[in-house]
Amino acid sequence: MRMRAAVLEEFGAPLVVQEVDLAEPKAGEVLVRLEACGVCHTDMYTASGADPSGYAPTVLGHEGAGVVEAVGPDVTDLAVGDHVVTLFSPQCRECEHCLSPKTNLCLAIREQQNLGYLPDGTTRLSRDGEAIRHFMGTSTFAEYTVMPEIALAKVSTDAPLDRACLFACGLSTGLGAAINTAKVEPGSFCVVFGAGMVGLGAVAGCRLQGAERIVCVDMSEDRLELARGQGATDLLIGGDDAVQKILDMTRGFGADYTFEATGLVGVMRQAVESARMGWGLCTVAGVAGKGETLDIVPRYLITGRRVCGSSFGGVKGRDQVPVLVERWLAAEIDVEPFVSHTMGLDQVNEAFELMERQDGIRSVMRF
Ligand SMILES: NC(=O)c1ccc[n+]([C@@H]2O[C@H](COP(=O)([O-])OP(=O)(O)OC[C@H]3O[C@@H](n4cnc5c(N)ncnc54)[C@H](O)[C@@H]3O)[C@@H](O)[C@H]2O)c1
Ligand SMILES: [Zn+2]
Ligand SMILES: [Zn+2]
Repeated sequence: MRMRAAVLEEFGAPLVVQEVDLAEPKAGEVLVRLEACGVCHTDMYTASGADPSGYAPTVLGHEGAGVVEAVGPDVTDLAVGDHVVTLFSPQCRECEHCLSPKTNLCLAIREQQNLGYLPDGTTRLSRDGEAIRHFMGTSTFAEYTVMPEIALAKVSTDAPLDRACLFACGLSTGLGAAINTAKVEPGSFCVVFGAGMVGLGAVAGCRLQGAERIVCVDMSEDRLELARGQGATDLLIGGDDAVQKILDMTRGFGADYTFEATGLVGVMRQAVESARMGWGLCTVAGVAGKGETLDIVPRYLITGRRVCGSSFGGVKGRDQVPVLVERWLAAEIDVEPFVSHTMGLDQVNEAFELMERQDGIRSVMRF
C-alpha cells in the first residue's frame, strides 16, 4: 500500500513528508493504522545526526498509537480492531530476560531492530523499490506501520489514542522509573531532577507510590508548575546549590530516592550526591551524550548510596503499558497537561523546533 510518512533523508536536514510503500505484514507481524504519535527527543537526536548508530533513509517516530488493520500469519494475541500502543522496547515473553522479573530488556529482536530492520532482517518500508529502514522498530511518523506483534501493547478501546501514545515512551519511562525500577516506598522523600515528560512522569510515579515529599528540580518555573500538578510538594530551581538545598531539607542526610531525567551528566552526579547516606537510591533515566561519563566519588557508594539505570522505566510493555493506561482512565494519572501542541504530519519539523525551544512538553501529531 501507499501511505504518507515523514522520512529522514539526510542527517541535519528537515524531514521530508512524502508517499512511501508499505508491504503486507509477514509472519508474527501486524499492520497498524496509526492515529497519533508524540514527538520525542530521540527522534530529533537521530535526525540531527548526533546519534552515531543512526541510519537514513528511515521513517522516524516511536510514540505511536493506533488500531490494528490486519494481522499476518501466526499472530495470536492481536486481532483486527484492537487498539495498540507501539513499543520500541518489545516483550516476547519467552527470552531469558522476559522470563526474569528483574529486567524489561527483551532480547528477542534487538540486533535487527538496532539496524532498522524487522525481525527477519528485511524492511516493509520502501520507495521505488529502495528499502527504507524502520526506526526503533516502530517508524510511527506515518499513517500506518508494520510491527512485530511482540512490540505492540493492546490497550483499552476507551483510551483516546492521541493521549495513549504518550505511554509509548516518555510517560511510561518516568512512571516506571518510580514504580518498577526504584519501587518507591510509601512515606518516602523523593527528588526528581528534570521536569520534562520523563521527570513529570517520575513525579506522578512517586505520588502513586505514596511518597510523602516529592521535590522537583528544574530550570523552568513553568515546568515546575506542571510538576506541582503531578504531585510535587516542593519546587526547586536547579543549579550548583541543588544538592546542598536537598541536604538542608533532609537534616543533612539526603533523599530516600532520587531520579535524574535531564540527560546531563552533571545533574546525574547531583542526583547521586543528594541520595541519602545509608540507603538512598539514585535512578538514572536520562540519556547522556556519546562518550560522556558519570563522575562519582566512591565514598558516596561505600556509605550506602546506590545507583541504577532505567530503560523505558523497567516497564514490560505488553503486560504493563495496558495497566498504566487503565490507571490513567481511572483518573490516577493526569495526562492532559503534557500535550501542549496538536498538529498534523506535515508539521513534524515545527514539532522539532518547538522541542528545541522547550515550548511545551509534548507535541502530538494526528494522522
Ligand atoms: N531511559 C529511557 O528509556 C528514556 C526514554 C525517554 C527519554 N529518555 C531521556 O530522558 C531525558 C529526559 O527526557 P525529556 O523528554 O523529559 O527531556 P526534556 O528536555 O523535556 O526535559 C529535561 C528537563 O531537564 C531540565 N534541566 C536542565 N538542566 C537542569 C538542571 N541543571 N537541573 C535540573 N533540571 C535541569 C530542563 O529544564 C528540562 O525541563 C532525556 O535525556 C531523554 O533522552 C530516556
Ligand atoms: Zn522517546
Ligand atoms: Zn523477550
